[in-house]
Amino acid sequence: MRTEHPEHALQHFIERVARRLDEQSDEAAIRRDVGALLADLVAHDDWLPASHAQPGADRYRQYLLHRDPQARFSVVSFVWGPGQATPIHDHTVWGLIGVLRGAELSQGYRFAGPSQLVPAGAPVRLERGAVDAVSPSVGDIHRVTNAFDDRTSISIHVYGADIGAVERSVYTEDGQRRSFVSGYSPLP
Ligand SMILES: [Fe+2]
Repeated sequence: MRTEHPEHALQHFIERVARRLDEQSDEAAIRRDVGALLADLVAHDDWLPASHAQPGADRYRQYLLHRDPQARFSVVSFVWGPGQATPIHDHTVWGLIGVLRGAELSQGYRFAGPSQLVPAGAPVRLERGAVDAVSPSVGDIHRVTNAFDDRTSISIHVYGADIGAVERSVYTEDGQRRSFVSGYSPLP
């Protein structure tokens, strides 16, 4: 049962995450603890500013909600228009995904050879309120798709770095890698 005002939910989440990172450096424990905090945050869909919930006509949007002053973590709203998807990509740091609105599909991939990327299991459907994790230690390559082709879906992501500035990779189905730095979407 949440007692705080919706306007304070994000700020309280950020403070709790920062405190966890002050206390904890083990990645598995961080994923567990920050994942629990994220589950609490996305349990209520009444706090995300409308400015950070606007889909783009051409492709998905990623709006920065918070960058830790020491760049230990960042919080981003991912907004998927109907049917929109990411390329296959990695993260290189731990990441947590909490579905705030709608639903999404995450298809994991793994390298079966130096340049052969294959699906790792079936796609996972993340319903509203679900939390999922990525990282080099638990599976870092995936493609995310809006599960709906007639409405917007939104997920809140937390990463163990200023993710918009991290040099990482996108992949083609045949395993070709291209380096990319995602940046953040300008607010509409
Ligand atoms: Fe991702």
